[in-house]
Amino acid sequence: MFVNVMLIINVHTFVILAAGNGTRMCSNIPKIFTEIASKPMIRYVIECCKQFSQNIVVVTKEEFAKHDALRDVEVVIQKTPLGTGDALMYAYDLIDEYAIVLYADMPLITDEDLEKVISINSKAVITCFELDNDMMHMPYGRVICNSENKVNKIIEYSDANTDEQKIKLANAGIYKFHKSILNNVFQQNKEKYITDFCHNADIIICKYETAHGVNTQADLAYAENVIQNRLRTKFLQHGVKILDPKSVYFSSQMKIGSNVIIEQNIIFKGNVQIGNDCVIRAFSYVEDSIIGDKTKIGPFARLRGNAVTASNVEIGNFVEVKNSNIMQSAKIKHLSYIGDSEVGQNTNIGAGTITCNYDGKNKHKTVISDNCMIGANTSLVAPIKIGTNAKIAAGSTITDDVPDNTLAFGRARQVNKN
Ligand code: UD1
Ligand code: CA
Repeated sequence: MFVNVMLIINVHTFVILAAGNGTRMCSNIPKIFTEIASKPMIRYVIECCKQFSQNIVVVTKEEFAKHDALRDVEVVIQKTPLGTGDALMYAYDLIDEYAIVLYADMPLITDEDLEKVISINSKAVITCFELDNDMMHMPYGRVICNSENKVNKIIEYSDANTDEQKIKLANAGIYKFHKSILNNVFQQNKEKYITDFCHNADIIICKYETAHGVNTQADLAYAENVIQNRLRTKFLQHGVKILDPKSVYFSSQMKIGSNVIIEQNIIFKGNVQIGNDCVIRAFSYVEDSIIGDKTKIGPFARLRGNAVTASNVEIGNFVEVKNSNIMQSAKIKHLSYIGDSEVGQNTNIGAGTITCNYDGKNKHKTVISDNCMIGANTSLVAPIKIGTNAKIAAGSTITDDVPDNTLAFGRARQVNKN
């Protein structure tokens, strides 16, 4: 089976249409790059195609062409978004024997459904799904069949009369065309919509999820929910203990080691890596950060912007760590902000310690060496270096470097008056 599929797909070019305006999203973020579980929507479609072939063409707007999400595909430009048929024409010269055409706004597409389209032996195929009674309001194109159960006509929902709107067969938006069919259409008719040249195409049926097109913010929220459920299932299957899966939001890029516990109400975003034997406690927010083995995070912790911990670290409640390296066995257990810093091995940061990293114009670095004891409610005004084995008295504002093995006070003396 696998060998057959490989033989067939060698003559296939995947064409992803991504030059539309996405106006129904009412957003200034281009629809195809809007993120779902921290990944641009179009990447879900590209990565699904990549399971089968590297021969992928994206038709898009000029201003999107250099975007990182399109780094590994062929890009062609549709100058004005005149319609899906017009968009496909721009890819024509790059198409091999068959084109597999998809829309960039269907991020829930699965390998199984795509494989069905690729492997069917037909010169023209469209993918459809059945609308349930409670889905009849959805604005998918309606497919009218002929007596041989092939496509007679596809009518866009907005053009359909009330009877046509009641048709339950909907156009999912994955097509396969032999190049000769496209050649005829483009030479003679120059149809604006793909749906206008599907006459007599074979029909295959897919799941609704695969077809789900993201046109509005509500569609996007639906897609996010499905992707999150897929990620939850994946991590549970890999042995991550997730106490309340529906309350945890994962990033599609993240990696989680073995023997990890994730408590309730936690958000992960971007490039997150969690080592082995870690606990992420409730209500924490972790973004673009790396957590070493045997580390405890939270509850109510925030890691972001390249926070990196070595092993056996503890980051406790109401602690924010940004762009910092926290070395082995360091502890920052309560109410702190550690930004643009290094915190050495076995160092203990007392409650309420703040690195003052920003002077209003620039960010500066704080280095806290190994085995330090930073007293509670200390402000460390960067740039600054605290030497090995140093201690800082509670309530200090430290503006000068502290040498190794020193106790530093940076506060007014207490005066008691009657
Ligand atoms: C389209 C189908 C509809 C189907 C639905 C499935 C057409 C005319 N209609 O409707 O039958 O049920 O998808 O989700 O095809 N695009 C371009 N250039 C253009 C216009 C659009 O590249 O000139 C791209 C868009 O970026 C988008 C895709 O084509 O990724 C589909 O366009 P969209 O406007 O979302 O079509 P729908 O109204 O959803
Ligand atoms: Ca759409």
